[in-house]
Amino acid sequence: MEKFRRKFVFIGKIESFTHNNNKFNFKSTNGLVRITILSERIFRLQATNRDDFVSDYSWVVIKNKWDNVEISLNENEEYFEISTQYLKLKIERDPFRLTVFDTDDSIWKDAEFGSIGWDKETFVYIKKLPNDEHFFGFGEKTGALDKRGYYYIMKTRESAGYQDKTDPLYQSHPFFISVRHGKSYGIFLDNTWETFFDMGKKFNDHYFFGAKNGDLNLYFFYGPTMKEVITGYTELIGRILLPPIWSLGYFQSRWGYKNQEIVSRIAHELRSRKIPADSIVLDIDYMDGYRVFTWNNKRFPDKNFFKKYNEGDGFNFVTIVDPGIKIDKNYFMYNEGIKNDYFVKKKNGKYWKGYVWPGAVHFPDFTKEETREWWGKKLKILLDRAITGIWNDMNEPSFNIQPYAHRVKTKDLIFYDNGLNTPFEKNRNVYGLLMAKATHDGLLKLRPNKRPWILTRSGFAGIHRYAAVWTGDNTSNWKHLAMSIPMLLNMSISSIPQCGADIGGFNIWFTAFRKLFFKLNKILIIRWHQLGAFYPFSRNHTLKQSKPQEPWEFGEKAENIIKKYINLRYHWLPYFYNLFIECSKTGIPPMRPLILEFPDDEICYRIDYQFMWGSYILFAPIIKKHQKIHKIYLPEGVWIDYWSNKKFNGKQFIEIVPKIEDIPIFIKSNAIIPCQPQMLYFKEKQLNPLIIELYPNDKGESTFIFQEDDGESLNYLKNEFCTTKFTLKIYEKTISFNIDKRIGNYIPNKRDYLVIFKAIQKPQKVILNENEIKEDINSKSIDKLENNKWSFNEKSKEMLIKFEDSGDKQSIKLFL
Ligand code: GLC
Repeated sequence: MEKFRRKFVFIGKIESFTHNNNKFNFKSTNGLVRITILSERIFRLQATNRDDFVSDYSWVVIKNKWDNVEISLNENEEYFEISTQYLKLKIERDPFRLTVFDTDDSIWKDAEFGSIGWDKETFVYIKKLPNDEHFFGFGEKTGALDKRGYYYIMKTRESAGYQDKTDPLYQSHPFFISVRHGKSYGIFLDNTWETFFDMGKKFNDHYFFGAKNGDLNLYFFYGPTMKEVITGYTELIGRILLPPIWSLGYFQSRWGYKNQEIVSRIAHELRSRKIPADSIVLDIDYMDGYRVFTWNNKRFPDKNFFKKYNEGDGFNFVTIVDPGIKIDKNYFMYNEGIKNDYFVKKKNGKYWKGYVWPGAVHFPDFTKEETREWWGKKLKILLDRAITGIWNDMNEPSFNIQPYAHRVKTKDLIFYDNGLNTPFEKNRNVYGLLMAKATHDGLLKLRPNKRPWILTRSGFAGIHRYAAVWTGDNTSNWKHLAMSIPMLLNMSISSIPQCGADIGGFNIWFTAFRKLFFKLNKILIIRWHQLGAFYPFSRNHTLKQSKPQEPWEFGEKAENIIKKYINLRYHWLPYFYNLFIECSKTGIPPMRPLILEFPDDEICYRIDYQFMWGSYILFAPIIKKHQKIHKIYLPEGVWIDYWSNKKFNGKQFIEIVPKIEDIPIFIKSNAIIPCQPQMLYFKEKQLNPLIIELYPNDKGESTFIFQEDDGESLNYLKNEFCTTKFTLKIYEKTISFNIDKRIGNYIPNKRDYLVIFKAIQKPQKVILNENEIKEDINSKSIDKLENNKWSFNEKSKEMLIKFEDSGDKQSIKLFL
């Protein structure tokens, strides 16, 4: 520690202090500190060793006005105390040291010997690390769920072929959440230079973070729950627009769908085999010589091709758009870019040249508003062919792909950066973010009432406002299948809710090897779909050189298993969509680590390979090929095995023997899960009946506010939606389910309710809206069940009841 400490000049003693409403300024021997109280739970901390703080704008923070809060200040010769309702900040004078307390504890404490220090341009902030503190977040990172003991760098970069210890990767999210005995705080370091975080790797009792340049500029979010931290973070940086529902379906992709014939065949296979899918993705081959915003008209001669498939078969098409513009005097993007000064330049005034798929390219400077606007307008070329989603790739940016012999330098680059003219190192982290912003804003201008949908590889904090994210070029093996889970969970809680990994894996290092062990991959592909069907963004994608990886390429049995899982995703879509609605209001992601739902259960810190959809559905995917026994942790509560309806008590590990047909899925008792009937794509049919699956336990009550809208326009922002409150109550030998009157402007189609009570015993008597109704003894299948009747399946212990959705208050009562 001593050696490390000596590298830095620490901030020193407080020499003077001023304050103005919620801003507290400290001048110390070697630097300035400013604390701004934003709310009862959130404050900002800035520090610099310059004469003043660096220019104060952020690409990320959207909330700049905060309500007044009551703040009290006490000062004496030794320290200052700034307090809000929840927090007390104690600032010692000599040397400057900050300790944050909540009502009963110190929760964030500077190192004894000093806190904020500088080594030339680099700053570091050193904090005490209690031995029971754990960390989560950091966006897209490999490694375990719990980030204690890790060192990470935030520096977006092309990470083709990354493995389980590779760092940094494509995305940068300088954000983490601490959890200690169930209590949380979060830190967002809003600095776009390369930042680093040592979370107890170098020292056992201290952690530190910092940046290579710029000021210390962080936001502190108090929980006490992890959920409240996320809500605070997303209050500051904004929340998602609702994704179009089609983007919650399954995507079929591959580098190699290079012409109309192939795309037609894929569309045909999906529909004729009845594999649900909403989207087909076009990789770089649709373009003319990899020139973005062009079409290869030999390969895609029919200008109405996508429109026909969109209208006829309900497919959405997503095209890749890379940032590099081919240097070609006959190419409009090149000419317009040069003419209007849209490209990144070097200090000597020449354009920066990189090498990507088209060969030599220039890069648009997305830190310039004019460049972003120009880019946004060009999307029309794709929309004119009925493309509905945009895939931004290579936007770290990747600048040295081929041929590898080029040594592309980044040292002398100048980015416009809101007029500050700053180097590459300050802008690389936000390159993908700003490209996504240009795309998002462009789509909104071109189709003002359609929800934009973008997929991006690179990004920074705030990327969720513009795009979904996938984890880039993973590898087709078991290790990558497994590691996708903690990766996506940490991305989710870092505010990247629509995230996914390439199902089946992208890279294959030895094609021949893969052929030899085809069987191995078949199981891998099945298991990966059983997991990936529940990724928030679910896409099968692979490399050009790899063998076909579509669900039907592995024989009938594999196809049926995969289909069953994609079907299950679609079955639960209304529930899943409602999790996105919740996320748009609170920031809480749909895909959740167990720790988010059970913050007091310390075992959950280590549950890397299980996850939840909301509060009710728990998945325990199979992550190894030869897994004889699968150990599953069930947290507190009663859990129902989705496949058998068998009940298990929580707060214990259980063991099961895995079968290839299924992965374990458990439903938390008292769950209310709105579902839809089988559908091959969004809007294939009307949502009729609306299925409500209920898992009543012995006692208790739960509610679910079910929200509906058209699923694709922005009318929901103008109150075009409706909500229905469902309440499930269990009391002694009665179960009641109440549906409140629907409220709101959106009117769903005419439909029935099909309510399914799972894992119960056969009722003696059933009351629907005050009238006793009869058992339908003849109906052996759901489709045949008559309205206002019920049926019971002895084997599965499920009771079904169907009736018209009147939009009014309705109720069911079961007497057991
Ligand atoms: C990059 C992307 C990959 C894509 C390929 C070709 O490697 O990560 O998904 O298929 O480029 O565009």
